[in-house]
Amino acid sequence: MTHEKPNRRDFLRTGLAGAAGAAAIGSNLTIMAQEAKGANERLGVGFIGVGGRCQSHINIVNGFQKQGLTEPVAVCDVYRPRLEAASKKCGGAKMYRAHEELLADPRVDLVCIATPDRHHAPQAIDAVNAGKDVYCEKPLTHWDQFALAKDLEAAATTNGKIVQVGTQYMADENYAKVSAMVKDGIIGTPVHAQLGYFRRGDWGERMTIPDANAKPGPDLDWERFLGDAPKVDFSVSRFFQWRLFWDYAGGPATDLLVHTFTPVFCLLGLDFPERVFGAGGCFQYDREVPDQCNIIADYKDGPSVVMMNSLSNYTGIETKIRGTNGIIILTGDGIRIVPIDPKTNKETDEIRMKWNGMGDTSKLWKNLLDCVKTREQPFSPISAAVRVQAPLSMGIIGHRENKVVKFDPGTKELVLS
Ligand SMILES: NC(=O)c1ccc[n+]([C@@H]2O[C@H](COP(=O)([O-])OP(=O)(O)OC[C@H]3O[C@@H](n4cnc5c(N)ncnc54)[C@H](O)[C@@H]3O)[C@@H](O)[C@H]2O)c1
Repeated sequence: MTHEKPNRRDFLRTGLAGAAGAAAIGSNLTIMAQEAKGANERLGVGFIGVGGRCQSHINIVNGFQKQGLTEPVAVCDVYRPRLEAASKKCGGAKMYRAHEELLADPRVDLVCIATPDRHHAPQAIDAVNAGKDVYCEKPLTHWDQFALAKDLEAAATTNGKIVQVGTQYMADENYAKVSAMVKDGIIGTPVHAQLGYFRRGDWGERMTIPDANAKPGPDLDWERFLGDAPKVDFSVSRFFQWRLFWDYAGGPATDLLVHTFTPVFCLLGLDFPERVFGAGGCFQYDREVPDQCNIIADYKDGPSVVMMNSLSNYTGIETKIRGTNGIIILTGDGIRIVPIDPKTNKETDEIRMKWNGMGDTSKLWKNLLDCVKTREQPFSPISAAVRVQAPLSMGIIGHRENKVVKFDPGTKELVLS
């Protein structure tokens, strides 16, 4: 057994199994595009969806601008007040109402997508087809768009484009080391994992309505907000508080559990699950999506992954990965690996690693900027995100339909049973 530090390529081979091939195809095309741009030129960044979350992204990109790495050149939103404020914050960046127009702007090399969930995949597909690399907020897609997640992986691969998916818990190099150790058997065969996300509040209080009189017209494009969602009459709550509605959001699974599940997925080198159970309900708040959400995802020959969530209380659980011969625990400080000697059944000396970037969005960005140059796959690649999306979508669908959802490995489709 070796505990040597794996390099980035090893991580892709181990932690992000199955996913790894995505990078290679089409990379020549991309390298040519980069050469045309010039290795030392600033990357032009375009922001699509400049609401709450995007403010952090703009701050980060403005920071990298001071280091000569980036230049915010364009912004896009369907709501004029936010569009104008974002343009100002980006030093007068060009404003677009339609993302297709932003993507046609030759000064844009890289796009940041921070629209509501439904738009992530369609806009990211358009972006990679337009020759742009992408920072795409989590979740990869809305819960009922799993087919689009696969389409995006295919489009990114064909076009040789880098897609960093915005789960900032992935911004830590320790995962690469631990993933390699798991592959080498440090805890035996992983058979069980638990993870969760806990907090208090329904999100309505975090998504305030800035203008109760807002209505569709020149300042607000309701049709573009809806995208491929069911056509319904305008409502200020749906527009500003979209997280509360099934049509635009999936509740805690795709909003929160995606953060804590993605590192576990990568540490274990998982692929698609075999079957998924979803449970929970809306027991405390006045909203459509659940405020308590539990998902169990079974993988062929293990592990069984238990995901827990409550929006009633911050008291949570530690992330733990149990193997036949040891356990990995993700704590507030870092990662603990506790092997068990199978001869004595006793715990042996544990290994501890302090967090080094976990949760740091600017580190995820820096990693993306590096990968745009090297064409290596980033910390949080599309290939992992598609496979993370599967059990989350399956858990939501199973809960809604009161059924177990299976993954068909042949067709790669989700099947109700
Ligand atoms: N990684 C994280 O920690 C984190 C934190 C918060 C939000 N997010 C993700 O970021 C995304 C946005 O969340 P938010 O809280 O910023 O929401 P928000 O409503 O504050 O911002 C979304 C913006 O997108 C705009 N928009 C809607 N449809 C559009 C379209 N078709 N084209 C262009 N713009 C459009 C809206 O007008 C709004 O300004 C969500 O998917 C969410 O899951 C991630």
